[in-house]
Formats: sequence, structure tokens, C-alpha cells
Amino acid sequence: MIKEFFSKERAEKERKEFFEKIKNHFIKTEDSTYTYRDPQIQETMHSVTGAYDESIYKFCIPSVIEKRKYLLDLFSGFGYNASAALEMNPQLKIDMIEKDPEILLMGLLIPDISEAHRKIKGAIESSLYDAGFIKNRVYESPENVHLFIEDALEFRFRDIYDVIFHDAYSPEKDWKPYSLNFFKKLYKVLERTGVLITYSSSSAMRATLLEAGFYIWASKPHRRKRSGTIASKIDLKLRNLSKKEERIIALTDLGVPYIENRDVLRKKLRNRTLFSSSIKLCFENIYNFGEKSNISERERNRAERSIKRMELTEEEIKYIVCPQYEKCICGMCHRRYKNTTERIKEMKFRLLKLKGINNK
Ligand SMILES: C[S@@+](CC[C@H](N)C(=O)[O-])C[C@H]1O[C@@H](n2cnc3c(N)ncnc32)[C@H](O)[C@@H]1O
Repeated sequence: MIKEFFSKERAEKERKEFFEKIKNHFIKTEDSTYTYRDPQIQETMHSVTGAYDESIYKFCIPSVIEKRKYLLDLFSGFGYNASAALEMNPQLKIDMIEKDPEILLMGLLIPDISEAHRKIKGAIESSLYDAGFIKNRVYESPENVHLFIEDALEFRFRDIYDVIFHDAYSPEKDWKPYSLNFFKKLYKVLERTGVLITYSSSSAMRATLLEAGFYIWASKPHRRKRSGTIASKIDLKLRNLSKKEERIIALTDLGVPYIENRDVLRKKLRNRTLFSSSIKLCFENIYNFGEKSNISERERNRAERSIKRMELTEEEIKYIVCPQYEKCICGMCHRRYKNTTERIKEMKFRLLKLKGINNK
């Protein structure tokens, strides 16, 4: 329907009228901007608490966008993230990548939010026009923004960026944008002091970032309990993950990175090489060291079973989780571990070492 509408020249007024006709296919979010629920993926493109609000609080603010020079805006969709970034930093150079022309055409129809949004629409329109998806242009195309209508996973990167927005559908719906191969590619195109930002807090996704060589940090939660993720190439001394989150990534099968046949590998490793995710905070309660936390009887039973099947002694468990404590509790450390990334790596190393695997 949308492709057909754009098969003729369409003035701005006509586009507005057409949007009014089809707007029941969109969802108005709490900040009055629109999102769309992808029928195939079965997920909305943005948070219903505010599509544009999400761009500002989950991407622009955590990346300190006003200090950045060159943004790689992956999975650009309606262009909200790029618009918010340009609004906060008008000099920013931006490369956008989105593979679906229909989503981009929808992005042209949604109401303008700001002058920056009109500029982003100009860049979207220019690429759609060049590729033959539309017959006329109504927006001015900015010089500092370019949209590539391509599959980001196959994209041949030519530049180096100091900020990357990674805004794909959730990894539970589509893991490929979070795969180890893709993150390794992104590592290479990120400047030394740059940051990669995603709204996702998935443990597997974070484990994949670590495996690709990044440091990982938590961004400040916005309108939900869980924080997004900031990845960097150097120790930026940002917010660490919680003890529980670190443990899940380091020690359980949820922390197996996104690679082909991940599910088979998880099953093979669970309760033999890696704990099942039921352990979370349970070591303290079961072995009575460190601070105790509230766990239910059911949680405790599941954790006890997993710990038993892993065949590790109390001393060995203390050795594994020791990097998370301010002072050594195992009597075998020569140093302390100052951030999430160091702690996860060391805990995983210790567990695998006890299981006879050398992963340094
Ligand atoms: C969560 S939405 C992104 C919303 C967007 N960042 C915005 O500001 O409006 C995810 C988008 O990724 C696109 N996408 C999914 N896989 C892709 C791929 N491999 N390459 C490029 N775009 C992709 C989808 O078409 C969809 O528009």
C-alpha cells in the first residue's frame, strides 16, 4: 500500500493526508511519537513509553552525543535516533543503515518532530529517490547525513566512527545483529575512545560484546528497571553491572555468546562446564559466605541441584567468585578486579580452569 502510494509524485500535503488515513496501523507512544509493530518479528520498533524519548535517553545521553563527531546509526528505522542525535549535535556527521525500504517510506510519512527530523527525512528521501522508491523530493537533503539502504550485517564499512547506535530488534527475536562476527566487525570501525550503545541488557548479548573485545558498562535505566549497555574499547570507568548480572554472564550458560548453534552448545555445557542460570546470587546463601540475599525455597533447591551437578567444592566456589569481593576471600589472589569486564573475565577463567579448560 505504501509502496504504491509513493509510485507517483506526492506533495507534502498529500503525504500528510495519506498518513491520517493509515495511522491506525501505527501505535502512538506516550510522548506522542509513532511506532510500528512489525507483523513478522512481532515486536514494536520502539518503546511504547515514548519512541523519541527512547532515542534521547537510551542512545543520545548515554553516548554524550554532543561531544561526538561521527555517528554510525545502525538499524535506522524511522530515523528517530539519528534525528535526536542531530538535534543535540547539529554538526554531527551521520551514516545511517536500514535494509527495509518500506520502513523508510513509513518514516517519511510520520509527523515531523523537529527541524533535525526534517533533515533526517531529507537524507532518507534522497536515498529512496536515488534507488527509485519515490518519484519526487520535498525535503532538503543535509550534507552531513547519509542513509545506506542495505543489510547492515553485509555492509562494507569504509570509515571509523566515534559513536555507534545499535538499535536492532531484541536478540530474542533476531540474534544475528548481535552475533560475534558482527560485533567483531563493529569493534574494528569504532575509534579508540568511542562508544557503542544498545538499549539491550541481554546477558548473551553482553557476553558477545566481551568476546569481541569490548569493555561493557550499564547505561542509566530509563523508565524501566534494567539498564541498556555501553561498550567501549578502553576502560572508560562508567557504571558497572550488578553482581548478579556479572555472575550470570561469567558463570552460566546464559553467558554463551551469540554464535551459530548456540543452543546446542548451551545444552552441552549446562551443569557440566557452566552453571545453570539458577545460581544467580545463591552461593552466599548455600555456603554461608559474603552477604546473604533473599531467595525462595524453590530458587534455593534449583541452585543447590546445579551446584551439586557441577561437582565443585566450597573452596573452589569461593575461588571462582572472589574477584567480585573488595577483599580476597579465597586466599589465592594477588590483585583486585576493578570493573565488570575484568571481573567477568577472571571469574570465567577461574571456572574453566577448574574444569580443565584453558581460555586465557
Ligand atoms: C528497533 S527498529 C529501529 C528503530 C530506529 N533506530 C529508529 O530510530 O526509528 C529495527 C530496525 O532494524 C531494521 N533491520 C533489521 N535487520 C536489519 C539488517 N540486517 N540491516 C539493516 N536494517 C535492519 C528493521 O527493518 C527495523 O527498521
